[in-house]
Amino acid sequence: MKLIIRDTMVEASVWAARYIAEKINEKAARTSEPFVIGLCTGSTPIETYNELIRLVKAGKVSFKNVISFNMDEYVGLPVEHPESYHSFMAKYLFDHIDEPKENIHILDGNAPDLDAECAAYEEAIAKAGGFDLFLGGIGEDGHIAFNEPFSSLASRTRVISLTPQTREVNSRFFDNDPDKVPAQAMSVGVATVTGAKEVVVLAFGSKKAHAIKDAVEGPVSHYCTVSALQMHPCAIIACDDAAAGELRVNSYRYFKATE
Ligand code: PGA
Repeated sequence: MKLIIRDTMVEASVWAARYIAEKINEKAARTSEPFVIGLCTGSTPIETYNELIRLVKAGKVSFKNVISFNMDEYVGLPVEHPESYHSFMAKYLFDHIDEPKENIHILDGNAPDLDAECAAYEEAIAKAGGFDLFLGGIGEDGHIAFNEPFSSLASRTRVISLTPQTREVNSRFFDNDPDKVPAQAMSVGVATVTGAKEVVVLAFGSKKAHAIKDAVEGPVSHYCTVSALQMHPCAIIACDDAAAGELRVNSYRYFKATE
């Protein structure tokens, strides 16, 4: 695992966006096959998306041959609800870049058969050739996508129940009322994420510091599902200084020195 530590969230986000653009361009230079990317929502990726939009507008990268799959969606929230991840992605990324509509995949939290929707999602990912890169965030409890503590590290896309902590944390988007946060979500599994050729996880702010410590220095454990990245041959965490704040001094120095 690599840790990219920057002083600020914006600097780490710019680093991540440029890294992703470089990977898209590298693949485009060697093959006409599409670049398949996993995408996340939440407060965390917004600056990375802003920088990607800038790069697209400046002609430095194109999403014309990119296929994306979002990592999760709430169950039962109407697509047009401002807090649905469909709405989020349109607002913060898809409305501003050149990715063809038919290349965009987001789980349908209102599908008549949710299990079938999850199975079809895994099939579509496989049919696209699997992920070249998965961009994720991290929860305060160390979840990756909505893989809450005790999710199997071998899990695949499925319906999951959100923990009271996650509903509390996400209530800031729902009038500060945890009861308004849907109780369930659909999420790619830990193994769906770690099946990507490369995983880039973003983490910003002191609220994520404990999860980063567990993910980097703790054991691989379903208690902190992002710790599964320790088993991945190409995993990067891009964070700000605050999120690296609970690492041991030696760990912090090691990552800074070896970058
Ligand atoms: P956040 O959520 O970006 O809003 O902090 C991240 C997550 O829960 O995975």
